Parts: sequence; structure tokens; C-alpha cells
Amino acid sequence: MVKVVICGAAGGIGQPLSLLLKQSNLITHLALFDVVNAPGVAADLSHINTKSKVTGHGKEEMDEALQGAHTVVIPAGVPRKPGMTRDDLFKINAGIVRDLATGVANNCPGAFVLVISNPVNSTVPIFCEILKKHGVFNPKKVFGISTLDVVRSSKFISEVNTSIDPSTTRVTVVGGHSGATIVPLLSQIPGGFVGSLSQDQLDTLTHRIQYGGDEVVKAKDGAGSATLSMAYAGARFTLTLLQATVSGQRGSVESTYVNLDADLTNESVKAFRNRTGLDYFAQDVEFGPDGVEKILDLPTLSSYEQKLLETAIAELKTNIDKGTSFVTENT
Ligand code: NAI
Repeated sequence: MVKVVICGAAGGIGQPLSLLLKQSNLITHLALFDVVNAPGVAADLSHINTKSKVTGHGKEEMDEALQGAHTVVIPAGVPRKPGMTRDDLFKINAGIVRDLATGVANNCPGAFVLVISNPVNSTVPIFCEILKKHGVFNPKKVFGISTLDVVRSSKFISEVNTSIDPSTTRVTVVGGHSGATIVPLLSQIPGGFVGSLSQDQLDTLTHRIQYGGDEVVKAKDGAGSATLSMAYAGARFTLTLLQATVSGQRGSVESTYVNLDADLTNESVKAFRNRTGLDYFAQDVEFGPDGVEKILDLPTLSSYEQKLLETAIAELKTNIDKGTSFVTENT
């Protein structure tokens, strides 16, 4: 039995994400939880002829939805409107994430958890702190989903250099998931990609990757932020994780925002943590049967990327502190 629960399943991300996951034969039970409309979305999806069972769970049924979960994916909460930063969402989404984390601790403490709700830089620390309070925190199992930054990077570089296939060229993106904390390591793209760019082109491309979400928020003009591309990215991450944890596939890598306790064996992670004081960071992670198998070493950065990273570190510190203080003050 592989039960996957989507919290916020009736939302802009939740619905297409549920649709994409309904297509996977790795999942036997897809449980859709939302404070509105979950039974309707579940009834609709349940007619699709793949093997998973679909159930819908309303406002008062969070516990039932979460019981026995293998994996919990969380796109619950409010999205941005034009002029808002992800940090502006904190007030509402912090409480939602805290309550869902409590639900996970009580009902499925061993589940893998994928946090999509923004601001990810702060909501992941909130989630982890709540699990710690309940004595059920396993850092190998909680992931902040920054995959959309990787997906966007692949697409945007292929628009600059049309010989790049965006579906096969991965870009490592480190740091966090908001504006200046998103650090794309374009120097790692093979074939001398960065060397072919002018400084202006590099600045423009880097800025586009960091603030790509704003393009969507602006174009949707008050109707929300990225949902379809996010559902694609969220499904990609979920399925890669399931392939590792259910099917035993080894060696797959994705960038994700994790608690650095997830890999205590990596000396370079230890050194990075000592130097920066950060407990959370997005980096390439290799999956194994227990979730995080290892956090990969940071590659050698260009001096341009080093500067971006230093800016990201300062902002991340504030974002992380905001998440952990919220738990201290509100639980
Ligand atoms: P939405 O408003 O369309 O959907 C959110 C859903 O969450 C709604 O159906 C709502 O009823 C539900 N919800 C609210 N409180 C809940 C609770 N306590 N329990 C269960 N469900 C609850 O928003 P959308 O566009 O789907 O975005 C969701 C979140 O994902 C936002 O915080 C947004 O900022 C974030 N996001 C994250 C991205 C990433 O890369 N990590 C990219 C894009 C959006």
C-alpha cells in the first residue's frame, strides 16, 4: 500500500498535481484533503482508469486523510498577488503549515513530507520544528520543494541557447526558494554555456530564474501564482522520491531545501554549516530508500555565483529564524 496525501488538493496547484499523480502506478491510494471542495475533486479523479483508489476529505477529516500515509504533499495556503513577495504570505501560511505538521506528527509520523506552501524558506523550518516537538522528526524525510526553480532554469537557458534540450539539461539551483535566495549554478552547465554569455546576458538570465515566479503572478493579474508548472515540478519530485523509496531505484538527484541534519556524514556540508550558521539549505540531494541518501558537495562556484550565494545566506538566515521563532511563539 502506498498512500499519498495531498493537503490543499482542491487548489490551483492541488488539482493538476493530483491529476498528474493519479497517472502513477506507484500509488495505490490518493487521499485528497482540503478545507473546501475535496470530495468533488476526488469524485472526478476517481473515474480515471488507473489502479489507485481516490478519496476526498473535507475540513473536519484531516486525521482520517493522513492516517497511514507514505507521503504527504502540501500545496495548502494562499498564493501571491501582484506586488507581494513570498514572505508576505507568512502570516497566513505559517499557521496552516503548523497545523498540518501537527496532523502529520499525530497520524503518520513516519511519512515523507513535501512542503510546497510558501514561503518555503520559513515553512520548512516550521514543519521540522513541530515534528521535533512531537519527537518524530527525521530530517531525511522532509523536503522543501524548489524543483520549479530547476525546471524554469532548464527552460530559460534553452531559450538563450537553442541547441540545449530543456528536458534533459539539469541545472543545479542552491540556496532557497525566493528571489535572491535562489542561486542557479549556471557555471556547471556543460559545453561552456556561461562563457558564451555577455555579463548583461548572465545578469538577465540569473534575474529571470530568481524572479520567474513574478512573470506568472503578473500575467495572472490577481488570480494567483504558478500552478500548472508547479504541479508539473511537484509531480516530478514526488515520483522521483517514490521511485527511490518504493521501487528501490538508486542514484536519482534533485535540488531540494532540507534540514542539513539530513546528511551528517558529509564533511563539506558540516564545514558549510559551521561557516554560515545555516541549518537549512537547498542543494542537490541523492535519494535512497529512506529519503535523503546524501547531500551532494557544493561544486566550485564562479566568483559571480559566490557573491550571489553570500547574499542568499544573509536572507536565508532571517527566513529560517522567522520560521523557528514562529513555532516558539505560537505553539
Ligand atoms: P490556491 O489558493 O489555489 O490553493 C490552496 C488550497 O489550499 C485551497 O484549495 C485552500 O482551500 C487550501 N487550504 C487552505 N488552508 C488549508 C488547510 N488548513 N488545510 C488544507 N487545505 C487548505 O493556491 P495555490 O496557487 O495552489 O498555491 C498554494 C501554495 O503553494 C501557496 O502558498 C503558493 O505560494 C505556493 N507555491 C509554491 C511554489 C513552490 O515552488 N514551492 C510555486 C507556486 C506556489
